[in-house]
Amino acid sequence: MTDIAEFDLNAIGPAYIEDPYPTLRALRERSPVHRNADGSVFLTRHADVLKVYQSRAMLSDKTEEFGKKFGQCPLHTHHTTSLVFNDPPYHTVVRKLLASAFTPRKLAVFEGLIEGIVERLLDRVEEKGELDLIEDFAKVLPTEIISFMLGIPPEYRQKLRGYSLAILGALDPVVPPERIKAGNEAVVEFTEILSDIIDHRRRNREGAMEGEVLESLIFGEVDGKRLNDEELMQNCIFLLNAGHETTTSLVGNSVGILLKNPDEHRRLIADPGLITSAVEEFLRVESPLQQGNRLAGEAIDLGDTVLPKGTYIHTSIAGANRDPAVFADPDRVDLSRSPNKHLAFATGIHVCLGATLARVEGRIAVGGLVKRFPKLAANGPATMVPLARFRGYASLPVRVR
Ligand code: HEM
Repeated sequence: MTDIAEFDLNAIGPAYIEDPYPTLRALRERSPVHRNADGSVFLTRHADVLKVYQSRAMLSDKTEEFGKKFGQCPLHTHHTTSLVFNDPPYHTVVRKLLASAFTPRKLAVFEGLIEGIVERLLDRVEEKGELDLIEDFAKVLPTEIISFMLGIPPEYRQKLRGYSLAILGALDPVVPPERIKAGNEAVVEFTEILSDIIDHRRRNREGAMEGEVLESLIFGEVDGKRLNDEELMQNCIFLLNAGHETTTSLVGNSVGILLKNPDEHRRLIADPGLITSAVEEFLRVESPLQQGNRLAGEAIDLGDTVLPKGTYIHTSIAGANRDPAVFADPDRVDLSRSPNKHLAFATGIHVCLGATLARVEGRIAVGGLVKRFPKLAANGPATMVPLARFRGYASLPVRVR
């Protein structure tokens, strides 16, 4: 983009989706508080994004915004009922109920589960020799984990990534009508499946497995409040979306980064202990969730600009994570980067509830793959998921021998 003043987040095209980083860099340098044609602003500096996420006066409720975008439809009901697009007090109640699913005890159950699933997947990878890393590896792990959390039977699991992409796809800045249609259909179908599962669990509470989240969501109470049927359903769907596509992308993007940076790949093979800091670097360099939004409930002072109350704000997590004011040589991949104060999981009251789980999944999956297959290499052209808000591969062909 030659003239960054003309950039409009609501009119981005395939070139931005393919590689947003040169544009984000130009914005950060020349228009860090960038006004879009509709009056909203796009923030690309780390300090500004951090300040917005940390401010209690920045609101997440999207009833009005999504009303304009979707009209009254299942997608609108879904997104406006999930905790991430709500403010306290509703947000606080749902978050407390969900938090009971991510206690250290439950995470220990998940860790054992993840190790078992990854071991089986690695055996399959070995048998195949050549594979699509997304289809045959990256997407399978989060599907299994979320299915376990929500008690989803095996026969439905194949459909989950499709639902997730269809529902999340409608959140992109530019959304064609067919994507809204697909999102609505996904919400309706997934609701039908979940209704049966929830009914079954209500009648068979004792059948819940240790670590299952559904049970706490159905029967849990915070300050005497339980989720009603709509809240329960929509927050289960949200959990699927929150934990599914993002984690698939964490694993896929990590492998993509290693294939493009052979020196760092060799470093990790030689020193597997680097995997913990490597996962942080993967999250920084190719953040699975690239941007968020807030509505200014009060004016916010960004140092050189004051945004008035009522401003609709887009936060560029991807821009913030490559800000040279915080990260030395930000486009360089350094698997031992420290400190690494990236914002891939956001921060503030909506900070990702699944961050620890996602980190464990990334560490075990990517660490296991690199350790077992030192000859891991690209095996043909990769394609990206055609979304701007979420960044990940649609397919990533690799071979392991
Ligand atoms: C690499 C993987 C992941 C990334 C990059 C990620 C990123 C994020 C980000 C940036 C937010 C804040 C959104 C906002 O405030 O606008 C968020 C919220 C959330 N995430 Fe994650 N996430 C990941 C994995 C997971 C997993 C595995 C789960 C659960 C299974 C999960 C559950 C949630 C929940 C429940 C929220 C909403 C928290 C709230 O509104 O209070 N995430 N995530």
